[in-house]
Amino acid sequence: MLTSSTSLLPKRIVLFASGGGSNAEAVIKHFAGSTEVKVAAVFCNKAGAGVLDKVAAYQVPSFLFNRAELNETGVVEQKLIDLAPDLIVLAGFLWLMPASIVERFAGKIINIHPALLPNYGGKGMHGQHCHAAVLAAGEKQSGMTIHYVNPEYDKGDLILQAYCPVKPADTPEVLAARVLQLEHYYLPRVIEQLCLG
Ligand code: GRF
Repeated sequence: MLTSSTSLLPKRIVLFASGGGSNAEAVIKHFAGSTEVKVAAVFCNKAGAGVLDKVAAYQVPSFLFNRAELNETGVVEQKLIDLAPDLIVLAGFLWLMPASIVERFAGKIINIHPALLPNYGGKGMHGQHCHAAVLAAGEKQSGMTIHYVNPEYDKGDLILQAYCPVKPADTPEVLAARVLQLEHYYLPRVIEQLCLG
């Protein structure tokens, strides 16, 4: 006899991204065709962001919002409640997640950061700024960090770090590309692990 069970439903992921969207695309591709994990939506705060074009090529709805909808009117939070995600993934999202959303989805929000936290994190430490700081400090090693989100930038508990060398001739762009390779590999796999165990 067939019985229905919520455990048979796919785990639902919501992605937040505001940039080029290469991590969002890596995640969408990884789970395309999966019956166990579904990317339910991509939330983006920047009209014209590359991520919106990337997502348009897949069967994933995107939702564009502004700062007031995130921080004041509760529009973003209500939309998340409606979507009931099992996991919210900040994949290149630069704004601070409001405390009310962090509390409501406690333990269900993760972020990816292009350096080895706790170093080179915090407000303003994103994209090329982050890689430039790593190079300026003469680091021999960099990498990426996936961590839980709390109400402070880049301060939540670590989930996974992966490492790569910093080479003498690196520019921020070259180092960013090396770190992104790690990100694209590990982010979908960490999501899989968190969703499916
Ligand atoms: C990534 O380096 C990620 O670690 C950081 O922002 C960048 C986003 O890149 N949070 P993309 O938009 O996924 O290409």
